[in-house]
Amino acid sequence: MPTSTSPHTALITGASRGLGLALARALAAQGWTLILDARGADALEAARRELAAHTHVVALAGDVTDPAHRQALAATARNLGGLDAVINNASILGPSPQPALLDYPLDVLAQVYLANTIAPLALLQAVRTHLRPNAHILNITSDAAIEPYEGWGGYGSSKAALEQLTNILAAEHPEWRVYWVDPGDMRTALHQQAFPGEDISDRPLPETSVPGLLALLTTDFPSGRYKARELNAATEIADAAGAGCELRVALTVPDFDAAARMYREGFGLPVTREWNTPEGRGMLLDAGRATLELLDSADSAYTDQIEAGRRVSGPVRLAFAVGDVAATAAALAAHGATAEGPPVSSSWGNPSQRLRAVDGMQLTLFHPPVEGEAEPEG
Ligand SMILES: NC(=O)c1ccc[n+]([C@@H]2O[C@H](COP(=O)([O-])OP(=O)(O)OC[C@H]3O[C@@H](n4cnc5c(N)ncnc54)[C@H](OP(=O)(O)O)[C@@H]3O)[C@@H](O)[C@H]2O)c1
Repeated sequence: MPTSTSPHTALITGASRGLGLALARALAAQGWTLILDARGADALEAARRELAAHTHVVALAGDVTDPAHRQALAATARNLGGLDAVINNASILGPSPQPALLDYPLDVLAQVYLANTIAPLALLQAVRTHLRPNAHILNITSDAAIEPYEGWGGYGSSKAALEQLTNILAAEHPEWRVYWVDPGDMRTALHQQAFPGEDISDRPLPETSVPGLLALLTTDFPSGRYKARELNAATEIADAAGAGCELRVALTVPDFDAAARMYREGFGLPVTREWNTPEGRGMLLDAGRATLELLDSADSAYTDQIEAGRRVSGPVRLAFAVGDVAATAAALAAHGATAEGPPVSSSWGNPSQRLRAVDGMQLTLFHPPVEGEAEPEG
């Protein structure tokens, strides 16, 4: 009998690094059950271990061009009770440096088409009976599908074929949401392979493209072609227009990379924007809904006493509602945070734990009260 551990389940191919892993982190933070694959078993297992702190994850190492592997993914989808989303993300570049078309080895071209064009369709054929009503399908494409970049004839034409295939799939299946999405240039292994020996540190991290993918997965945009980062901007504008204001907490951190890793990977917070200019570096992370809590010094000292056993907070402490306090604390500890004390069951009813972040910030992790339970007092 199929069992489902979360209301939402997604299958993401190529989720051991790059965009696939960044998206998996963001969905895990939202509690989606995940089925992930990649060929390299070690990197995939590392991703599974990290994400398992947040949600139920099944990782199957294998090649999307292998029919038996696709059947194994489909069987997993069936056992989990069906899929709300399929993200065909795994892709290969082909040779590096990329040859001009007249020099392109045709056996290699066939491999590129097999991985980038045929496998995404074959996977959808394999899981078609496990797609829930209104399933969302995202096929990751590229601007190389529509721009005639010299040397990009193999990879680019494989993505062009994927685009038209997805376009027709959308027409044939109005009951699903079918998207083909250009994530934009990203600082990943595939991009480095496309520009061998070049410094690609000015390219945005893949996390920058994730909010646009989340917007497609969690709302009801019409089927069609989208650019992930244009959706980011549209979503931010809509949010700002709807909410009227946004609380943004600006942290000045002594070790930017360590702090970025802990907040991004420990919590799985999606990066919505980042910059690296001669004036300095910065990054915006989507931390979900924000509220402002005001405490007098007595109440703040009382909270410190319960969570840390002594007075530790300055005027600012960050508190995050999480699904599983212990698992999130372990994920943060793996990225350099230190527990100030053991998990506690606070007198106002929330399991919580206090940590000191890599940037020195005091962090409270708390499990919000279950709906219908009494609201916390004080
Ligand atoms: N990076 C960019 O600038 C850029 C721009 C436009 C579009 N894109 C698209 O964005 C998507 C993600 O790319 P990325 O840059 O994140 O690439 P990446 O860092 O190279 O990651 C690719 C992922 O796919 C897996 N993979 C590759 N071939 C596979 C196969 N045959 N079967 C199963 N898994 C496979 C890789 O793991 P293994 O190697 O271990 O299998 C890895 O997990 C791709 O569709 C790419 O075409 C990227």
